[in-house]
Amino acid sequence: MSILKLPSDAFVGQLSPPKKTGASPIFRAKIDLGLSVECCFVKPLPDVIVCPADQQPVPNREIVAEAIGYVLAKRSGFDVPEKAGIILLTVEQIPSELHRMLAKAGHGQLQEDYLCWFSQDMQYPNVIQHIDLTLPEHMVSKAFERVVKRLAEISQTNRIVAFDDWLANSDRNLGNLLAAPRAPMLIDHGRIFVFPNWSPGSFGRIPGGGQNRLLAALDHFNPGWSAKLPNKSARAMAYASFAKVVSTADCQQDLAGFLGEFFDATQAGAIIDLLESRLDADYYNQQIGLLA
Ligand SMILES: Nc1ncnc2c1ncn2[C@@H]1O[C@H](COP(=O)(O)OP(=O)(O)OP(=O)(O)O)[C@@H](O)[C@H]1O
Ligand SMILES: [Mg+2]
Repeated sequence: MSILKLPSDAFVGQLSPPKKTGASPIFRAKIDLGLSVECCFVKPLPDVIVCPADQQPVPNREIVAEAIGYVLAKRSGFDVPEKAGIILLTVEQIPSELHRMLAKAGHGQLQEDYLCWFSQDMQYPNVIQHIDLTLPEHMVSKAFERVVKRLAEISQTNRIVAFDDWLANSDRNLGNLLAAPRAPMLIDHGRIFVFPNWSPGSFGRIPGGGQNRLLAALDHFNPGWSAKLPNKSARAMAYASFAKVVSTADCQQDLAGFLGEFFDATQAGAIIDLLESRLDADYYNQQIGLLA
């Protein structure tokens, strides 16, 4: 059972804010995980968001997206934060500095409580955290290029690209990879299935469609990278390994462990069918360009 589900009394207290944050309200806190109390990153997620495609309020699926991404990454052998899960927090437990941003993210309203995604603070910086964004633009761009070129040479990178293609992750920016010693550590799967306006069995929608950002960066700084045969083969092998993983009883059990709390059996089945359909060998070999 790899996702923890915790009530608000597991919350121990707020910690100093993170050095770098992304687009969402996020904070650090101590959480009682049962066997130990750990420092965690905590991301409160509003129940409703405004759909970027038609500006209408829609259910926010981000918490489920995070959980699916975390379980599948972990079961597929990627490094991920050791502990992660869902905690329900009252608005008073969330730092007041984040309330305005949180209300804005959630259709203008502040809720009484929030489902939050938390992951253990692994203390590794993300792979671009060392880049000083106040430097002149050409120097920042050079620093990005160095990071991406290094990633292009790591064998694990093809697996990450394939993983994000499988899940239609539109948000693998470099801040979503932590510089862990063995291999880049995967965090932030809130935008799998394109965007959290998805519904069971179909992808979300965003203007522009959503692309594999890591793949785009790799090809931008290393023209032709994705078309090289060894890279295509590595991605095909990665897909084949995901197909094996998702069919195991352990993985299905992990997914069922939280999908049932958000969806009925038909909806949960539709999510799993969509995941499996993208692991069909003909489908992915065509995607990669190994089949005409
Ligand atoms: N478990 C963790 N361990 C260490 N650092 C973390 C962890 N979770 C998040 N971070 C740090 O916090 C930053 C923001 O977290 P995260 O990517 O989840 O938020 P976000 O706002 O959704 O990001 P984005 O800008 O990609 O939408 C990460 O780039 C990373 O530096
Ligand atoms: Mg992020």
